[in-house]
Parts: sequence; structure tokens; C-alpha cells
Amino acid sequence: MFERLEPIAVDTILGLMAAYRADPDPRKVDLGIGVYRNDRGETPVLNAVQRAETALLASQTTKAYVGPTGNPGFNQTMELLVFGAGHPCLSAGRVRTVQAPGGCGALRLGAEIIRTAFPGSVVHVPTPTWANHTPLLSGAGLKLENYPYFDAVTGGVQFSAMLAAFERLPAAAVVLLHASCHNPTGADLSQEQWREVLALVKRRRLLPFIDMAYQGLGDGLDADAFAIRLFSSELPEVVCAVSCSKNFGLYRERTGALHVITESAAAADATLSNLVRIARGIWSMPPDHGAAVVYGILNDAGLRQVWVEEVAAMRGRIRALRSAAVQQLQQHCPQRDFGFIARQRGMFSYFGISTAQVRELRSRHHIYMTDDSRMNVAGLRQENLEYFARSVAEVLART
Ligand code: LMR
Repeated sequence: MFERLEPIAVDTILGLMAAYRADPDPRKVDLGIGVYRNDRGETPVLNAVQRAETALLASQTTKAYVGPTGNPGFNQTMELLVFGAGHPCLSAGRVRTVQAPGGCGALRLGAEIIRTAFPGSVVHVPTPTWANHTPLLSGAGLKLENYPYFDAVTGGVQFSAMLAAFERLPAAAVVLLHASCHNPTGADLSQEQWREVLALVKRRRLLPFIDMAYQGLGDGLDADAFAIRLFSSELPEVVCAVSCSKNFGLYRERTGALHVITESAAAADATLSNLVRIARGIWSMPPDHGAAVVYGILNDAGLRQVWVEEVAAMRGRIRALRSAAVQQLQQHCPQRDFGFIARQRGMFSYFGISTAQVRELRSRHHIYMTDDSRMNVAGLRQENLEYFARSVAEVLART
């Protein structure tokens, strides 16, 4: 039977991760997969996580199942982190949260509940969007269409074109929005622009499906959740997929949550029962460890403070690297303006070079970024910034 299967190409991001690992060259620079790195190029376990894990090991008495919605304490704590204490949708009992295996699990569950409630839904995603949105959402049976988003000329957002596209959508169309730290471009909306999008979404009665994978790594823990908080206070229905991979550094522990905001508490209960059924049919129950760690951190004042500072340090380092990269590039490639890198937020920037140039950077200089020239800024280091900028200059001069 399986002879019928044709081999298919490996996922671009995962393929790049494997190629980087296999490269023996000591100069290699990993700007590929979206994993935070410190100035030694390492992705260490956060101190807050280590301490919470130690406490968890000492106190855990069973490995019995937790349940299909996951850890209730984690879910409640995530609601506070994402929406902020006292948010009106929480006080009104209109939010239901299910722990999921990473942001991917949350996105898939969100897509499944949308398809269950509105069969035949079309989800409109930005151009470009995270490569894995396509299999995650279409695998749940949703059709995908694109709306204009990134402006390659300015490195920002084609805001008028985005609004014009939303204006043409039929009622109940689903719009996938990146809350902050847009992946792959780093181009975010301002708070003023989010207000304009909200007004349009409200008037056209669209359903926002918001993906927040980088809370805290852009402008701050609260600022990065601005869109989710605004939309959830003004709209009857919002779906939010959230990841703890980056801000807690829990990547392999697969920790995330899906929050669904409905019009009434009764609709929320019905939605939850459907979410439980869907989750049971896919992964049954989510992995516990990462969620227990997040719960331990956020419910201990001391550990929480350590974590808040660690997130601030990651954010600060990324922002400093953005400015330092622009400086180095200005020095080595004065003919080209890379200033947009400093204006963007989060781990990624669309570097704006051709696929041929990306491949040349990889083959000649051992610098890895995805073929569309998405680079993970956190993969740069003080010691390789100059090498990076010089290599870019050489590639630009040659091709
Ligand atoms: C990325 O975009 O590189 C990360 O979100 C990791 C992944 O799974 O693709």
C-alpha cells in the first residue's frame, strides 16, 4: 500500500535546521529556525524554568492523566497573562481555554472548532504568513486565501491594501492575524492601525483568529497582547492561539493554549464541549510538563519576577541586535538601506534578498536563512555581526 506514496520535500524550516546542524564549518551562522539564542549562540533553559522544574520534581506525586482540557491552573493563568486581570471577557465568563500541544496544537484546534461551527469557512491569511499555517489550517478542512500584508519597499505593512481586502470579505469570513512579532516579516501594526482593523472587522462581521507566538519578545508582555485584548473587549467572538515555546523557552515541551471568546457564557460552554471532543480525537490529552512549569512560574511572585526579567532581557537583546545589524550593514553595504530591520519587531525580519542570494550566503558563507530571506535576528552574535555584514556585501556585489 505504501508504495503508492511519493516522497515529498521536507518542511523548509525543519530542513534548514538539519542542514545547519550537519554543517561542520566553524563560521556557520544560524538565522533559520525561530529559536532564541544568547550571545554564545545557545538556547539555554531559562532560570525561572529550571527553578520551577526543580520544585515540580520535588512535589509531583503522580503521572496520572490530567484531562482533555489540560491543567486547569495553567489555563486560568494563561487567561490572565493573555487578556490581563479584570478583562471584561473574563469577568463575563465568555472565555474557554484548552491547553494544547504548543502553538501548533492550539492553531489546529482553533481551525477544527471553526470548521465544526462554520463548515466551508475560508480563512484569510496575510501574504506572507508562517509556512506552517498552511498545513495546520488546511489540514483541518479550512480553505485558505491571502490578503496583502507585507510591503517589500518599506519593510512595513501595506495597510491600505490590507483594509481594502478586508472590506471586500463576506460576513463570517475568518481573518488570521499575527498579534505581534509577525512571522516571517517582523512587520507589525501600530495600536492605531489595530483600532482601524477592529472597526472594519466589527462592521463587516468577520471572525478574527489571532496567533500570538511571541508575547513579550516585541514591545513587552502587555503591549504585544494589545490586539487580543482590544478585539476581545469589543467583539462577540474571537479565537486566539497562544504559544509558550518562545517566551518561556519551552520549545520541545509543546506548551500552548487555545482561547475561544464567545458571545455568551452558554455558547462558551457548548464550545468547550466541542473542543474537548475534538482534542480527544486528535491527541486525547496534552503533555503536562511544560504547562505545569508555566503554572509554577506565574503563580510564584519570585519566579514570575525572574521570568519577566528574562523575557525583557531576550527582548532587549533582539532589539540591540537589530540596531547593531543595521549599523554593520550600513558600513559594508552603503548602497542599500537596511534600516527597516531596526523598525521591525520580534525574532524575524524579511531580509529582502533573492533566493539565489540566500543560497549563495548558505553555500559560500555558511549563513542559514530560509529561501524567502526570513532571518532570525536572535541568531546573530556580537562576534559574527561583522562576518555576516561582510558576507552579505560580498554576495550582493557578486550577484
Ligand atoms: C519558526 O517559525 O521557525 C518557528 O515557529 C519554528 C517552527 O516550528 O517553524
